[in-house]
Amino acid sequence: MMQDASTPTQHPQSLPTRYDARQKVMGKATYAAEFNPPETLYAWMIQSTIPKGTILSVDTSAAEHASGVVKVLTCFNAPKLPKPKIQPPATRFVSLLQTPEVHYNGEPIGLVIAKTLAEAQYASSLVTFKYQAEKPQLDFEHHLAEARMPKRANTPPKEDHGEKEEAWKRAVTVFEQTYSTPFQTHNPLEPHATVAFWVGEKLTVYNSTQYVSGDKQTLAKTFALPLENVHVICPYVGGGFGCKGSSWSHVPLAAMAAKVVGKPVKLVLDRQQMFGPVGYRPRTVQKIKLGVDGDGKFVAIKHDVIMSTARVEDFVEPSAKQTDMLYACKNISTSHKMVDMDIGVGTFQRAPGEASGTPALESALDELAYKLKMDPLELRLRNYAEIDPGKQKRFTAKHLREAYQQAAERFGWSKLNPEPGSMRDGNKLIGWGMATATYPANRSAAGAVLRLMPDGKIMVGSGTQDIGTGTYTVMAQTVVEELGVDVSRVDAKLGDTDLPKAPVSGGSQSTASVGPAVKAACAQLKLKLATLVVDDAASPHHGAQTGDLEIKDGFLVSTKSSAHEPIAEIAKRHGEIEVKGEAEPNEDVKKGMSAHSWGAVFAEVEVDESSGMVKVRRVVATYDIGRLINKTTGTNQLQGGIVWGIGFALHEESALDKVYGRISNENLAEYHVPVNRDVPEIDVTVLDIPDTKFTPQGGRGIGEIGITGVAGAIANAVFHATGKRIRHFPITPDKVLMTPKESAEA
Ligand code: MOS
Repeated sequence: MMQDASTPTQHPQSLPTRYDARQKVMGKATYAAEFNPPETLYAWMIQSTIPKGTILSVDTSAAEHASGVVKVLTCFNAPKLPKPKIQPPATRFVSLLQTPEVHYNGEPIGLVIAKTLAEAQYASSLVTFKYQAEKPQLDFEHHLAEARMPKRANTPPKEDHGEKEEAWKRAVTVFEQTYSTPFQTHNPLEPHATVAFWVGEKLTVYNSTQYVSGDKQTLAKTFALPLENVHVICPYVGGGFGCKGSSWSHVPLAAMAAKVVGKPVKLVLDRQQMFGPVGYRPRTVQKIKLGVDGDGKFVAIKHDVIMSTARVEDFVEPSAKQTDMLYACKNISTSHKMVDMDIGVGTFQRAPGEASGTPALESALDELAYKLKMDPLELRLRNYAEIDPGKQKRFTAKHLREAYQQAAERFGWSKLNPEPGSMRDGNKLIGWGMATATYPANRSAAGAVLRLMPDGKIMVGSGTQDIGTGTYTVMAQTVVEELGVDVSRVDAKLGDTDLPKAPVSGGSQSTASVGPAVKAACAQLKLKLATLVVDDAASPHHGAQTGDLEIKDGFLVSTKSSAHEPIAEIAKRHGEIEVKGEAEPNEDVKKGMSAHSWGAVFAEVEVDESSGMVKVRRVVATYDIGRLINKTTGTNQLQGGIVWGIGFALHEESALDKVYGRISNENLAEYHVPVNRDVPEIDVTVLDIPDTKFTPQGGRGIGEIGITGVAGAIANAVFHATGKRIRHFPITPDKVLMTPKESAEA
């Protein structure tokens, strides 16, 4: 509905739907692989078939003579890059055909460029490599004793003058157990895709990415170009989840190929290629030790993590991170160590750290609660952290107690009979479990631009990304809220490095970073309009004080009189009006306080005793994420995170072949994710209490917290149903069917 510009209207408080929904369902949203500049050629990545060694020679003659082939690139003929080892912006190891060394199975070692995708794929099968193979290290479990500190620890170990060791002596009950989580691989529906072309020394790239500015930096450094020569465009992303937060090999390789052939080149990864060369969640083994006094209060906590890492680059999955801040305790010690392996580089995967750490920590708390014969919720309440125990700082806001209470009530937790195996429905065992969810609140500096057009349309732009999370919606909504115009007048633009810079859409920070920048731009627009009209004889505000004017419902109104004028009228007279806004975290808050989101997750499972199949019957979760900026996109993200939590608990695992170093289930038939039948009724509620210490809009990030806590709640429910404690994720039927003796040895 178009707004009649002459009458003030009630402005909608939130958008009823996703801003980008219509484009998407109409098939009009253009994703990276759908850009087709004239004369586009297709590239296909050839991957190594050994995990470690050196390429001695390559025979490309058959491929070069195959139909449609334009060029075959390998380390023997690829252009030498100015700095073969680049490290911006997220310290990624990439393979750009600069060396004959092979670092992992599946590493990009060649590129075939042809007229069609089919021709490029076929010709790549004709290229033969001769290797000098070396013995790889592909065994995680048997090398735990060799685990080392990360080379660049992102959480340096804290000084301990022995008081922590002393504290254990005061513990009345001590509980200690080991948990493990598998390799997991991101599987966004849209795989990685890059289209690159050059005009002289200027590079344009359409890329499926979580970070257009990061790609720009990486490409500029890789090809030694001035930053302004690189333009990265990404209007839509079909899911990212962390794997598109870094520029992997295929991004510069597409640009390299385009340079060599002098034409646009499209390089799209297929599903198999998503497993290995573009990141994954590392494996972990986590040892947790909990000590409590006679009241069930923690006197000491220890969480030691050993994870896998690629030999070529350290990536820390910080699984013990939440343990430093989640429960009140004076003596917390955490550590992260890694086992070197000849595999691809791990990376951020939805809630890196908390996703793999909370299943272990929250299982351990449940085990301790049973040992103490205490309600698991009561144990958490007794150890409620009023301040961040690790940093010894106040939280910007924390309403976790209310979240526990609300979710427990909606779930019916008070009816729990804690006795394992006490609940049945026909031949199914029923179990209940709960866990705490948490994720840090992140925010970075961001910019936004606003353009008020003479026709009354308002363009709002930011160099951010919408990875399916709702950035378009939040940008448009912020303009609607601040200026009171109808959403039909707002034109939101993002995913373009020509727009003001914004951070990576990772760490659940886009809304908290970009929203305030848009709000700041709206304030700038008011200033600019006020300055224009007070000197404008055609305006009813002529001669007014700028400080007495504000924007309301699409009008510039006076706070001193009834004078008002549609903002569109001002643009009609003065032409397009452009302003910029910037926002960054409040330094005092950043230094002085701890910012996190919180949640309580309750799960009900049914277990088939004869098959070992676990089905989640319902999940009830309540979150404290500050203000719920948009109910549609926010609730959707929390539900999506919970679905992924179910996958973490029951399905997901990338199986590494210990001889060849390849993931053996590198497809969506064998890499199991929850499908509709696995997803039960999910009851998500949000407390919706604004955290205005954190941002002026009061919202904290929401993209990642949903996955946290869920797997722990489900594992705890499986124990309650069966009396079997499964500490090694995922909880597959074979593990459920194990005898207690077998599972102790597993
Ligand atoms: Mo997220 S794993 O920080 O993209």
